[in-house]
Amino acid sequence: MRFKDQVVFITGGASGIGKAVAFAFAKEGARIAIADLQQELGESVVKDLQEKGIDATFVVCNVADYNAVKAAVQHCYQHFGRLDIGLNNAGIGGPMASTREMELQDWDRVVAVNQSGVFYCMKEELAVMEKQGSGCIVNVSSIAGLRGLPRQIAYTASKHAVIGMTKTTALEYARYGIRVNAICPVFTNTPLVDQLFASVEGIDQKLLRTIPMRRFGEVEDIVNAILWLCDPASSFVTGLALPIDGGQSV
Ligand SMILES: NC(=O)c1ccc[n+]([C@@H]2O[C@H](COP(=O)([O-])OP(=O)(O)OC[C@H]3O[C@@H](n4cnc5c(N)ncnc54)[C@H](O)[C@@H]3O)[C@@H](O)[C@H]2O)c1
Repeated sequence: MRFKDQVVFITGGASGIGKAVAFAFAKEGARIAIADLQQELGESVVKDLQEKGIDATFVVCNVADYNAVKAAVQHCYQHFGRLDIGLNNAGIGGPMASTREMELQDWDRVVAVNQSGVFYCMKEELAVMEKQGSGCIVNVSSIAGLRGLPRQIAYTASKHAVIGMTKTTALEYARYGIRVNAICPVFTNTPLVDQLFASVEGIDQKLLRTIPMRRFGEVEDIVNAILWLCDPASSFVTGLALPIDGGQSV
């Protein structure tokens, strides 16, 4: 029960990494707030958690909308009376296109969700954490936050930005007992990556060859890293952008 009674606010918790991490925190005694665009899926995750006796709540939220983020964090605070861990995980891939061909609306959408969304979430989470004098934030970047990915300019830009924001906010809040870290997963088996693999014939095998360990990530790989970053075992770690990538970024 490493996280007994702690309150974890998870964006994008209706699916993939966010959903898996919700169950992992719950297993360790945490209380869970899920904020996601997908109401039906999010509510069904919360129902599953509640059936296991976990105190959990769902709120519809588009992280690209500042007022929606503000309302979602308030919902969490009103429900639980605190917020210990912010997991800013909601993200989208966007279409693959060269820099010249990237449509402006696709650029705007990906940056709004992946970059502005993380900023809005941290801004509101920190308002609560500052009052508490404690807190821990994990932002979900990507291996695309550490290196270039051809035909993914909006995604790579937004994920690089997540790392820049993580470092800046970590420096600002280090003295207040609030840690801010980022994780940088390589391709991990979730619905987001299923979509990518389905979009181009043979891309999965091509990408597999870029990973020295010759396997894709599993959600457990990511969940374990997130839990460690929120655990007192990593209490002296802040501003880190942690690759979880089978050696790809080495
Ligand atoms: N799966 C991978 O290979 C991989 C690798 C590196 C980084 N990531 C990052 O991990 C995070 C989670 O991805 P995943 O693989 O679990 O994908 P996923 O598609 O399974 O889950 C993403 C969740 O975010 C939600 N979401 C999307 N846009 C939203 C918005 N505007 N507001 C609120 N919720 C929104 C979706 O509804 C969904 O529930 C993303 O930020 C993604 O970029 C994933």
